[in-house]
Amino acid sequence: MHTDADAFGFTVSGIFATWYYVGQRVLKVSMAESKFLMTLGKLHFILYVLGVAAAVISLFMGYTTSKEYAEFEWPIDIAIVIVWVMWGISIFGLIGIRREKSLYISVWYYIATFLGVAMLYLFNNMEIPTYFASGGHGDIMHSVSAYAGTNDALVQWWYGHNAVAFVFTVPIIAMIYYFLPKESGQAIYSYKLSLLSFWGLMFVYLWAGGHHLLFSTVPDWIQTMGSVFSIVLILPSWGSAINMLLTLKGEWQQVASSPLIKFLLLASTFYMFSTLEGPVQAVKSVNAIAHFTDWIPGHVHDGTLGWVGFMIIASIFHMAPRIFKRELYSKSLMTAQFWIQTLGIVFYFTSMWIAGITQGMMWRSHDEYGNLAYSFMDTVNVLHPYMILRGVGGTLFLIGVFMWAYNIYKTMSARPIEESELQSATPMGA
Ligand code: HEM
Ligand code: HEM
Repeated sequence: MHTDADAFGFTVSGIFATWYYVGQRVLKVSMAESKFLMTLGKLHFILYVLGVAAAVISLFMGYTTSKEYAEFEWPIDIAIVIVWVMWGISIFGLIGIRREKSLYISVWYYIATFLGVAMLYLFNNMEIPTYFASGGHGDIMHSVSAYAGTNDALVQWWYGHNAVAFVFTVPIIAMIYYFLPKESGQAIYSYKLSLLSFWGLMFVYLWAGGHHLLFSTVPDWIQTMGSVFSIVLILPSWGSAINMLLTLKGEWQQVASSPLIKFLLLASTFYMFSTLEGPVQAVKSVNAIAHFTDWIPGHVHDGTLGWVGFMIIASIFHMAPRIFKRELYSKSLMTAQFWIQTLGIVFYFTSMWIAGITQGMMWRSHDEYGNLAYSFMDTVNVLHPYMILRGVGGTLFLIGVFMWAYNIYKTMSARPIEESELQSATPMGA
């Protein structure tokens, strides 16, 4: 429930919302100019919300394929494909009627998100509904994967790792390439670097999934390839992140004065952080300690909370006042939210680092006869304080989410301001 809500509910709605906002601006065309695109956009929203509701209900009813991040059963998969194709038509439809000839970097990343997820989702969710295969027997909401055993695992983690790539990374880079220059008033530091990082990311990510299956039944060369490509992945990842940081060159005072720039800067810093930590975990000898331990969710959340979470939060903070033509309700509430959530993330991942490495070392310890030195309960007792710290971190992040929702709600329901006032309230205009 948690991972699907985060990926398909929170992150994907952030992707759609920012696409509709950013796409129209960088392509210099309004969706309202095409009746078809407007109707499609509305339908896309309605079907997406219905799809998410159906997905939540089906999971609560216990329907699952049991493949991580690909849990939905086949009828929901079909609904997801329809929603995704509608988004694709909307992207290419808007590109087709654009006034701006060149496609800004963010558009490349949105296109890559569309194509990447489509390919991954279709291949990993190839499944045979048992009801039809058995001539009308059994549960209609049940299916069997088209792949078996090790092959199933390989396709699953090719998909799973690239869900990180094409849901938690590529579209988030699309967001920062638009919102950071807009918010700071600075041009992107280097277009060359953005080009290199883009193609580097596209090529390297797809080969790194093997790092989820180290020491498994997958052929050894595939595991080694996964590790090697994970290390290489640092280059395009840091290429984008450094491009972001250097975009603020000479304008560092904005980090102190603007809470929104704080969110954007820390998002790219957490991106650098998790794309260094991931490759370290992909080294076989490190993975032998890290795998199955709390260090993995630690890595997951400096990426998802610090990078994905902060970027979507920042994007909505940027968009809401402009969409609703109202001033942001409270900057100081936003600053407080930033510090509370940053503290929450730091508590979360530091506690999970210590817990994970402790856990990994305890599991490996044995006496001279090869008997395990610790029982499972021993590790649980040692990890207890770190679990509490993670709970505190998670609670702080959650409090921040409520502060964010309140700030946006108050912004939406405030008195509308005139266009001229809006221009002066937001330095870059709408
Ligand atoms: C250079 C980039 C990255 C590399 C090489 C990398 C590598 C890894 C490795 C080795 C694991 C542990 C596999 C295991 O032993 O179970 C992992 C897990 C994970 N990483 Fe990354 N990571 C990277 C970036 C990111 C980012 C930016 C995010 C999120 C925003 C992320 C999200 C995840 C998730 C969700 C898992 C857990 C998967 C599961 O459910 O088991 N990673 N990553
Ligand atoms: C208040 C904020 C959050 C809290 C307290 C939280 C907590 C947790 C917990 C306790 C787990 C299970 C870890 C375990 O196996 O021990 C988990 C897993 C996970 N969470 Fe979160 N989470 C939060 C927000 C998010 C967000 C915003 C995202 C994505 C955008 C996310 C993505 C994930 C993923 C992908 C996993 C699976 C990791 C794995 O299988 O290794 N979480 N989370």
